[in-house]
Amino acid sequence: WEVLDVLFEKKGNVGLITIRRPKALNALNSKVFKELDAYCEIIKNDPEIKAAVLTGFGNKAFVAGADIKEMAGLTDPAQGEAFARKGQISSANLEKIGKPVVAAMNGLGLGGGCEIAMCCTARIAPKGLRMFAGQPEVNLGLIPGMGGTQRLPRLIGFEKAAEMIRTAGPISSEQALEYGLVTELVEGDVLVRAIELARELGEGKTKVKMMEMGPLSNVPDKLPDVDIGHLSRAIDKLAVQAILEGGSMTLEDGLKNEAKRFGECWKTEDNRIGLQNFVEKGARSKAPF
Ligand code: HXC
Repeated sequence: WEVLDVLFEKKGNVGLITIRRPKALNALNSKVFKELDAYCEIIKNDPEIKAAVLTGFGNKAFVAGADIKEMAGLTDPAQGEAFARKGQISSANLEKIGKPVVAAMNGLGLGGGCEIAMCCTARIAPKGLRMFAGQPEVNLGLIPGMGGTQRLPRLIGFEKAAEMIRTAGPISSEQALEYGLVTELVEGDVLVRAIELARELGEGKTKVKMMEMGPLSNVPDKLPDVDIGHLSRAIDKLAVQAILEGGSMTLEDGLKNEAKRFGECWKTEDNRIGLQNFVEKGARSKAPF
């Protein structure tokens, strides 16, 4: 028996994907990517399925990021870039299903968790979650590598996206709604509402605004100053490069460029220390540098 880390079931004409790694707060590793790819194929090819929902198991996390322990085992820029491409391609498969996909963000969506949600057509979150979403990669000596530097500016604008990425700070679910990162907040069960919305979108009863996939016309020459505190200047520089360079590219090219910059993080000492600190001390290492 192979134990699956991603579950799939049909709820009428909606395909429900649940990432289930409770001991790692549903973090995304290579096995999860492989299983996700298989379900995307099923959803795409099953004519009965009109829409899908992506959620995380449990009530704490939607997805707490890409698997930091797997990334800590990577040794050079080429391996870092290859891991990012794997995550990017897997998450973009959700975008390419050709049917609406709703992210039921039942809890924390950090790093790769926030990024995979941005590949969905709509995002639903609970009301009143103080620490809800963020791109904390720079804390680990990384930059976002699954589209955060590309889709976040396209969704919420360069200024807010750059601030979230460069400071690593999480935002509340209310702020996420205000920024336009999530499309709807609910009082009750996020999953119930997500399935309902997926059904409506699948039947064409409602529509949501699609993200701009082409080069953007409003790319700034430079980003406003933000306080990066104790964080690494070298990593901050890579994050800024990925954001600014990608803005004037198509999403596809911006992603490739981001993966290259993500790999370059492995050229820095901050990357080695940041990832190792998490592996050794777990989440107790909030400030690795
Ligand atoms: C691997 C993870 C993990 C992750 C949590 N865990 N997040 N394992 N990868 N991203 C594991 C912890 O090590 C721990 O395992 C268990 O899940 C429970 O987590 P705790 O830290 O004990 O829970 P808590 O104290 O409640 O803190 C929750 C948390 C914290 C704030 C979410 O876990 C945290 O900061 N996680 C990392 C979040 C993050 O930085 N994400 C971005 C990753 S980079 P043990 O075995 O110790 O019990 C990224 C790059 C994307 O996503 C691009 C890739 C290409």
